[in-house]
Amino acid sequence: MPVRALARVNVGAIERNVARLVREASPAAVCAVVKADGYGHGMLPTARAALAGGATTLAVATAEEARALRAGLPDARILLLGAVSDEELPAALEAGAEISAWSLELVEALAAAGRPVRVHVKLDSGLGRLGTRDEEEATAVADAVAAADHLELAGAWTHFATADERGDGFLAEQLARFKAWAEPLRARHPGIVLHAANSAATLRDPATHLDLVRCGIAIYGLDPFGEDAAERDLEPALELVSYVAAVKPAAPGESAGYGRRFVAQKETLLATVPIGYGDGYRRGLSNNAEALLHGRRIQLVGTVSMDNVTFDVGAAGLGPKVGDDVVLLGAQGAAGVTAEDLARRLQTINYEITCGISVRVPRRHHRDGEAVEG
Ligand SMILES: Cc1ncc(COP(=O)(O)O)c(C=O)c1O
Repeated sequence: MPVRALARVNVGAIERNVARLVREASPAAVCAVVKADGYGHGMLPTARAALAGGATTLAVATAEEARALRAGLPDARILLLGAVSDEELPAALEAGAEISAWSLELVEALAAAGRPVRVHVKLDSGLGRLGTRDEEEATAVADAVAAADHLELAGAWTHFATADERGDGFLAEQLARFKAWAEPLRARHPGIVLHAANSAATLRDPATHLDLVRCGIAIYGLDPFGEDAAERDLEPALELVSYVAAVKPAAPGESAGYGRRFVAQKETLLATVPIGYGDGYRRGLSNNAEALLHGRRIQLVGTVSMDNVTFDVGAAGLGPKVGDDVVLLGAQGAAGVTAEDLARRLQTINYEITCGISVRVPRRHHRDGEAVEG
């Protein structure tokens, strides 16, 4: 019997996407963002592939992610992008992560820990989230890091609010504000690394590259602008597959699924596929998604339930059989369903599609078809 539901992840694709971003960003270096379990792709295999593709640094959001990454990659440079609470600090330090800071309190806590730590000072140049908006405070934090025993001022950074909205002028404003603060800082602390760009900025504007770009979505072969990843020479790494668990005829008037939201208008065949919102295949796709069977598109009918979903497989010549593979995300022959397609239907972004694939779905990693360690 086929596996009930499976996310197949091609680390070869991740490696090639990273290599493509390395070429794009050069001479800036590439930091691969592998937080949230590698955007649902599996953090460690993603991180290994990113390093193989030429990334110099890996970024995570939490101390726990840094700990898990360090356990698998003893020598990697790990940058912790997120806020670190007192409770999380010991784990972050134990992981040897480079820490983001924007307050003197955190610098004091880091200095008090008495161990070597690289620190990246964060300016909020307009996203309005983490970091200080106050350039003087950011400079004071940087100088305090540089003056502290054990601490090294390794970088200065910011994060863009609108990099994925082409034509918007705010990116340039943020960049100008960041550079006006960070360049004089670097003149006083030579060797610090300036970084700002995410995937969208990296692909949209070389002026944002500075010394290092932090790419997440594009390393997974997903399009940062929600458009066609292939047009940007990015290769989606993840496929979500399940199988036909049951096939039954439906006569006019017969329904499928909770709430009877699909009622057959004519004789057809329905296939039940054992995947649902418990797997992260969202209920919002009810009556509004396509999948692939035998390389052809099939229409989702009725309500997505927790563990099952139904497709109309009555098209002439399709010949559905129990056990046949169904591709919910990915390609079969020339046909494909992309995370961008599903995101558009759900009025969300491709990030949420892969991050949302739940822990119930095993990830199986391969390099262009050859199994690799998970
Ligand atoms: C601070 C920071 N930098 C970089 C990234 C990577 O962004 P993207 O996945 O759009 O490349 C993220 C992801 O959200 C982030 O939070």
